[in-house]
Amino acid sequence: MIDVWTEKHRPDTLSEVVGQDKITERLQAFVNEDSIPHMMFAGPAGTGKTTSAVALAKDLYGDDWRQNFMETNASDERGIDVVREKIKDFARTKSMNADYKIIFLDEADALTSDAQQALRRTMEQFSDNCRFILSCNYSSKIIDPIQSRCAVFRFNRLEEGDVKDYITRLGKEEDFKISKDAIDAVMRVSEGDLRRVTNILQTASINNDEIGEEDIYGVAASLRPEEINEILEKSLKGDFIEAREELADLMIDRGLDGQDVISSIHREIFELDISDEGKLEIMEKLGEFEFRISEGGSSDIQIEALLAQISNLEEQ
Ligand SMILES: Nc1ncnc2c1ncn2[C@@H]1O[C@H](COP(=O)(O)OP(=O)(O)O)[C@@H](O)[C@H]1O
Ligand SMILES: [Mg+2]
Repeated sequence: MIDVWTEKHRPDTLSEVVGQDKITERLQAFVNEDSIPHMMFAGPAGTGKTTSAVALAKDLYGDDWRQNFMETNASDERGIDVVREKIKDFARTKSMNADYKIIFLDEADALTSDAQQALRRTMEQFSDNCRFILSCNYSSKIIDPIQSRCAVFRFNRLEEGDVKDYITRLGKEEDFKISKDAIDAVMRVSEGDLRRVTNILQTASINNDEIGEEDIYGVAASLRPEEINEILEKSLKGDFIEAREELADLMIDRGLDGQDVISSIHREIFELDISDEGKLEIMEKLGEFEFRISEGGSSDIQIEALLAQISNLEEQ
């Protein structure tokens, strides 16, 4: 069995959580006062929402944390009633060494507003002996009656300096070397998502103790900026056939699907050496083609069509 790094290196206490200093300071104060409000953790994936909730529970309850902390997913496909049953079961048993338990509810913004109303009633029903921490990507998707009962914390994508330090630390603990270019590549493709950083590095380091830039683009299902530039430039010049072949080769070579290609272009678009109008037009097309692929359009055909449309842009 190999250790999964995202579990192995998950911080055990609030003080080890990277970045998010303002948030962890306030959470630490709650722990010190042993007074926890209902909370909402909002922000993009891989920025420490689950990690901070678990770290808070460990800091608060010590060795008893497992008895007093439950993590569950709000968007359980069997529905909100199943979620509420789970919460009830957990909340019903009195805790031995604590005044209240913590229920961490992931993906709360996946609930419909009716389901959120039901959740709100459950929160009220058990607020004597339970505190809720709701996690979501967008706080705006949570109904007001819940928001107004929670202290809201906004998690940001990790900053480059923090990501760099994290990579260096991981390198020491896992004993791999990584080139400067490769570190830059990790930062580029992970966009401040530390889960992604961790998974990319674990994969890139398998049978490899000197990670280079090539390894990163290989495992990250991503195109390099130069490659994107070249393909788009060719398309814009009207060399559709060549651009298409080049992209098809890269997709096969790295095992990329249409979604990977669109994300790669999206990430680089503002760095590209083309006019601002060109960037905007390509942005619009990316959105359109991402939608088509998500609706089930064949990835290869849609990517070709995207390039064809980009080839046409210049002529208009
Ligand atoms: N702020 C952070 N500090 C340290 N590690 C982090 C942080 N954010 C994410 N990670 C790493 O990424 C993994 C996923 O983080 P998690 O807290 O589950 O993200 P999410 O915000 O999606 O809940 C963790 O196991 C940990 O390895
Ligand atoms: Mg999470």
